[in-house]
Amino acid sequence: MKAYRILPGKDIDGLYLKDIPERPLAPHEVRVKVHAVSLNYRDLMVAKGNYLVKLDDPIIPCSDGAGQVVEVGSAVTQVKPGDRVTASFFPYWRDGGPTSAKVRSALGGDIDGMLAEEVTLHEDALVKIPDQLGFIEASTLPCAAVTAWNAIFVSAATRPGDSVLLLGTGGVSVLGLQLAKAAGLRAIITSSSDEKLARARALGADVTINYTAAPEWHQEVLRHTNGEGVNVVLEVGGQGTINRSVASTGVGGSIAIIGGVSGFGGEVSPATLLTGAKRMVGIFVGSRAMLEQVIRFIHGAGITPVVDRVFPFSQAKDAYRYMESGAHFGKVVIDVTK
Ligand SMILES: NC(=O)c1ccc[n+]([C@@H]2O[C@H](COP(=O)([O-])OP(=O)(O)OC[C@H]3O[C@@H](n4cnc5c(N)ncnc54)[C@H](OP(=O)(O)O)[C@@H]3O)[C@@H](O)[C@H]2O)c1
Repeated sequence: MKAYRILPGKDIDGLYLKDIPERPLAPHEVRVKVHAVSLNYRDLMVAKGNYLVKLDDPIIPCSDGAGQVVEVGSAVTQVKPGDRVTASFFPYWRDGGPTSAKVRSALGGDIDGMLAEEVTLHEDALVKIPDQLGFIEASTLPCAAVTAWNAIFVSAATRPGDSVLLLGTGGVSVLGLQLAKAAGLRAIITSSSDEKLARARALGADVTINYTAAPEWHQEVLRHTNGEGVNVVLEVGGQGTINRSVASTGVGGSIAIIGGVSGFGGEVSPATLLTGAKRMVGIFVGSRAMLEQVIRFIHGAGITPVVDRVFPFSQAKDAYRYMESGAHFGKVVIDVTK
C-alpha cells in the first residue's frame, strides 16, 4: 500500500509517496482502508516544522480520515470488517478530562496518521460512522468538529439562546457555526471576505463582520449583542485577535484558546479577565467520547459538514497548497480512492 510521508520541517515539497509493506496485526489492531483525509492547519504546521513535536524520522501525516475496516486482529470486539469508521485524534484519550497520559500521542503528529491507502490502528481509537455520512464529510470531524464541540458544548457548556463568536471561515470556525446553529445558539462570525460571509449567512450566521473592513470588530460584536458580549469565543486567531476576543466576551463568558492563524503569542492583561469574571480555557481537540457525541449530533441534526474542495490522492501537495493559500471556506479534503 502507498502512504505519504514527511519529515516535519521539510515543508509541503517534502511530502513523498512510499510503498509500505503490510505487517501482521496485533490482537487488538484493525486494518482500515482509508477513503478520505481532511486537512487541518496543524498539518501545515507539521510540514513547516512549527508544530509541538520534533521528530528525527518521517511520519505519515494528517490526523483526520475516514474509511472501512478490512481486517481485524484476533482479540478485536468493537468493530468488524465492512464497518465504516473514523479515528480519534488522540488514540489514548477515551473519555473524561485530559491527562498527560491521554494526550501523549496524536495521529499525524508524533505517530503515523491517516494520509495512506491503509492504516493500522488500535480498536480503541476507532469510532463508527453512520451510513448517511459520506467518507468525505466524516473525514472532517476528528479534529475540527471535536475542537468546536469541546469549546462550545463541553468547556463553555452553552445552552440554546446563548451566543458564540467564530473567527474567520476556516475548518474549526465553519464547523463551529454549523454546530452552533443546529443547537439553537446565536452565531456571529468574522471573515476577511464578503463572499465568504455571504456563504456563512446561507449557513445561518446571525451576524457577519468583515474584520478587514472593520479592524475594531469587537465593537461590532458588542453592538450586535446590546453591549453584553458573547457567551463563548472560539479563539483561533492568536496574537492578532486575542485582546479583541476578550473584549467581545460577556461577563462570565469564556474564551476558548484554540489557535494562532495570525501568529501564536500575544499578551492579555489579567485585569480584563477578572473585571468580567471571564474564563480563558485551553482547548486541545478532545476525546474519543466527544467524537462519538459530535457524530451523533451531526447525524441527528442532519448537518452536512462544509467541504470546500476535494483533491485526488495523487495531488495531496496541491491540497496542502490550497489550504495554505487561505482561499478555502470550511474544509479541504483528499479523496484517497482517486
Ligand atoms: N487547540 C486545538 O485543539 C486546535 C484544533 C484545531 C485547530 N487548531 C488551531 O486553530 C486554528 C484554525 O485551524 P483551522 O484548521 O480551522 O484553520 P484553517 O481552516 O486554515 O482556517 C484559516 C482561516 O483563518 C482565518 N484567519 C486568518 N487570519 C485571521 C485573522 N487575523 N482573524 C480572523 N481570522 C483569520 C481566515 O478566514 P477568512 O478567509 O474567512 O478571513 C482563514 O481562512 C489554527 O491555528 C490551528 O492550529 C487548534
